[in-house]
Formats: sequence, C-alpha cells, structure tokens
Amino acid sequence: MSLILGIETSCDETAAAVVQDGRRVRSQVVASQVELHAPYGGVYPELASRAQLEAIAPVCRAALAEAGCSLAELDAIAVTQGPGLVGSLLVGIQFAKGLALGSGRPLRALHHLEGHIYSLWLEGEGPPFPLLALIVSGGHSELVLMLGHGCYETVGRTRDDAAGEAYDKVARLLGLPYPGGPPLERAAREGNAEAYDFPRAWLRESLDFSFSGLKTAVRRAVTEPVAGERQPKLREGVMVADVAASFQAALLEVLVVKTARAAARYGVAAVGLVGGVSANQTLRSQLRAAVDLPVYAPPSKWSTDNGAMIAAAAHFQQERGIAPADWALDARPMWPLAALD
Ligand code: KG4
Ligand code: ZN
Repeated sequence: MSLILGIETSCDETAAAVVQDGRRVRSQVVASQVELHAPYGGVYPELASRAQLEAIAPVCRAALAEAGCSLAELDAIAVTQGPGLVGSLLVGIQFAKGLALGSGRPLRALHHLEGHIYSLWLEGEGPPFPLLALIVSGGHSELVLMLGHGCYETVGRTRDDAAGEAYDKVARLLGLPYPGGPPLERAAREGNAEAYDFPRAWLRESLDFSFSGLKTAVRRAVTEPVAGERQPKLREGVMVADVAASFQAALLEVLVVKTARAAARYGVAAVGLVGGVSANQTLRSQLRAAVDLPVYAPPSKWSTDNGAMIAAAAHFQQERGIAPADWALDARPMWPLAALD
C-alpha cells in the first residue's frame, strides 16, 4: 500500500490530500481564494501567495487528520513544482521540503498538468492508452497525447488566452461574478446561441487554439467605452443570455472539433477531459456526441485544482521508479509538459 500527501499551490487554491495507491482519496482539503480575487475579476498574484502562506499549514494538517494518518506513515510528500505563479508555487515547495526534511519522508516534484491528467485515475481504473487529454483551465488549454504512464506529447496548445480565462473575461464584461465559467454557463442555457455570429479561430489544420480574438469580438459587439473607466459598459438592450450562449457556442465548437480531429489523427483509445472548464456540462455532452470513443471526465471536485491529483500523479511516478526530488528543488513557473522522465 502507498500513502502520499499531495500539495498543490500553483495558483489561487491551497490544496492538500492523502491518496492511497494513486486512486483512493483518503482526504481532501481545499482553501479557495475566490472571494479574495473576485473584486479584480482574476487572480491577483501578490495576494495569492500571501494567502497561500496563511493557509498552507492548516490545510496540510487537516488533510492528514482527516485521513487519520501521521507524517511517518506517508510513502512520499508530493508537491506541484510548476507551471504556475512563482510566489504561490514557492509556498507549497518550501512547505513540502520542510515536511519531508522533518519527517525523513521522500519529496516528489510534479508537473501541474500531469496532476490534472491523473485526476482521471482517482476512484477508478483510469482510462486506456493511447489517451488524448484535453486540459482546459484558467491557465491552460492543451491537447496532450499520452502513450503510457509518464509519456506525454503536447499536440496542441493555446497561442494566447486559455479557455477559462476567456470565460472569466467575457463574464466580467457581462457583469457576471468571478470565476465566470459557472455563471456564464448558467446564463447561456437561457439564451439564443445564434444571436451573435462570433469568430472561431480554426488556424487551418493546426491543433492549437486562440481565444483572444473571440474575447475582443464579444467586447466590440456588446460594450461601449466609458470615459475615464477601464471597464466598458454593456450597450443598451443587450441580452446577457444571448451573448453568453453565442460566446460559449463559438468557444466550445473549436474545443470539440479540434479534440475530435486530434483523436482521429492519433488513433487514440479514449479521450480525457480535465481542468476547471471540464466541469462545463455542455462541453461534456458535445464532446461525447462528437467522438465515437469513451470520454473520461472526473467529478468537478477533481477537475478544479486539488491535492489529490498531485498525489495520484506522484504514485505513478513512484511506480515508474523515478527518483525523489532533492533539496535543491525550485519552482518552474514556465514548464512545458513533455516527456518528463
Ligand atoms: O483548473 P482550475 O480550477 O484552475 C486553473 O488551473 O486555472 O480552473 C479554473 C477555471 C476558471 O477560469 C473558471 O471560470 C473555469 O475554470 N470554469 C468553468 C466552469 N467551471 C469552472 N468554465 C466554464 N464552465 C464551467 N462550468
Ligand atoms: Zn489547474
């Protein structure tokens, strides 16, 4: 049996979890900073790292207590090394080092996106290989081909904004609360998706994404500038639900069509849908309708940032015989997911 404490502090969530054998979640604790960043409509990095510092010790303590396990019983202490906000990452890394040093347990360093992918193994058998993973969150939009455990090839990525970032920015224009994904999805249910013909960035045959043009098109179509204010205001008579539905239709069409295209191009056995935006029910159902393959998507408690996914990824890293990290471990805020071993 292996027991791993997973610590995730790459952005605005302080999360820790104890996972048994890479699959069974014995405990999960997440301290969210949503309210702290809500007034800014996005993550304010300096505030994020300060809040991480306050939350990290109680969150880890609670994760161990809930799992009923002591530091000495752990097989490893795993932490996100990157990518992410450097100040936030450093809090988790230094804390994990301290725990590992104090307890004599091995330290494991994980890639944040590898963690998102391994959320597919939590409380289940996990998907078959070759797997195509669509990772869509506030910071990432990537298509990753996974040929086996620890073996990744990024076949598509956003060239500008991430999908979740586009949701958050458009939600802000529409006066919806932060984070914008859930309220925008709700608003879209009541709207007409054909009210606006927003652009889809196909980028020819490329599997890359681009969402900044879509965001600009929405801003131009439905807002007007206010003298002296950075934030424009909605034009008179604009129906929020129609804008939300038309925006979501444009964004999801590109995600779904490119994922289906990549799945066919690489002849995969299954598709995995992970990251915060994968909580979107319309995305899930459209993707399931577009690919004639099993689509794996974790419940939303594991699609947004959490410690369980990091602990799961660490278990499989351990299984592959990868050596633990050493004390020189440092944050890697910009770190592409490639063949990690
Ligand atoms: O994975 P995550 O918790 O954090 C990052 O690693 O970024 O993802 C957060 C993002 C936010 O941009 C949020 O608006 C988006 O996921 N999101 C959604 C939905 N739920 C969360 N986007 C669209 N539809 C949703 N239902
Ligand atoms: Zn994430």
